[in-house]
Amino acid sequence: MNHLITIAAEAIYRSQLTLALTGAGISVESGIPDFRSAGGLWAKYDPSEYATIQAFRQNPEKIWDMLRDMDRLIVDARPNPAHLGMGEMEKIGFLHYIITQNVDNLHQAGGAGKVIEYHGNSSTLSCLWCGKRYGAEEKRSEHIPRCACGKVLKPDVVFFGEAIPSGALDHSFQLASSAEALLIVGTSAAVSPANTIPSIAKSRGAILIEINMERTHLTSSVTDIFIEGKAGETIPALVGELKRMKGIISA
Ligand code: OAD
Repeated sequence: MNHLITIAAEAIYRSQLTLALTGAGISVESGIPDFRSAGGLWAKYDPSEYATIQAFRQNPEKIWDMLRDMDRLIVDARPNPAHLGMGEMEKIGFLHYIITQNVDNLHQAGGAGKVIEYHGNSSTLSCLWCGKRYGAEEKRSEHIPRCACGKVLKPDVVFFGEAIPSGALDHSFQLASSAEALLIVGTSAAVSPANTIPSIAKSRGAILIEINMERTHLTSSVTDIFIEGKAGETIPALVGELKRMKGIISA
């Protein structure tokens, strides 16, 4: 047992409000590449060309090339041991909310109920021009999904230059301000405002536990406990330790 896992589990065990902030790294072991690692989505699609709201407004058909690529990966993806472990952590009372930057529904598929989708969700669609909203079934055809008004639909994910859904923004801020422990998993914390959550929590006294394959800019600034490794291995180990502390015997 990595002694840092025991120290992290003790901090979570003591905490009255534990949050997780997750990023694309937690879904890598489900077969969805992240954004900024070698071979990540931004190596294939320049975000300034494909991921801004201005780019979508100017040429939505082009942006759907990337969106289709993302959908192909997401549609077949299944929750991995990290998602399942976090779902279990919630059930046994040690994780109160997950704030995720991911749009892939894998936390929910992994059994978590309290998930705040900071960057939206890729399964529903909206028309930027007339505001009409559509369900996931609109994406099933081979054609680029269009609104009844004729315009190309946009998935309800946050593009650069768009606002964070206000409910998610406010609720996350409120939670970060009162959290006693924050588990930061698989994010480079390169994108604002999601990357302000760790410093908000830290400034209010939370213990920050970071799980990542590599160090990030958080590691040497705000992180208290850095656990280097794959989320799919470290999260189940953390849950196992919490269950041991609570006296729950694992099968
Ligand atoms: P990034 O691609 O920036 O970072 C992924 C992080 O996960 C990196 O620090 C990796 O080292 C780490 N990682 C990879 N595999 C891992 C594994 N198996 N276990 C643990 N860690 C692993 O992705 P995000 O931080 O999520 O936003 O990116 C934030 C935002 O940037 C995204 O939500 C998206 C993107 O632009 C928008 O498009 C608005």
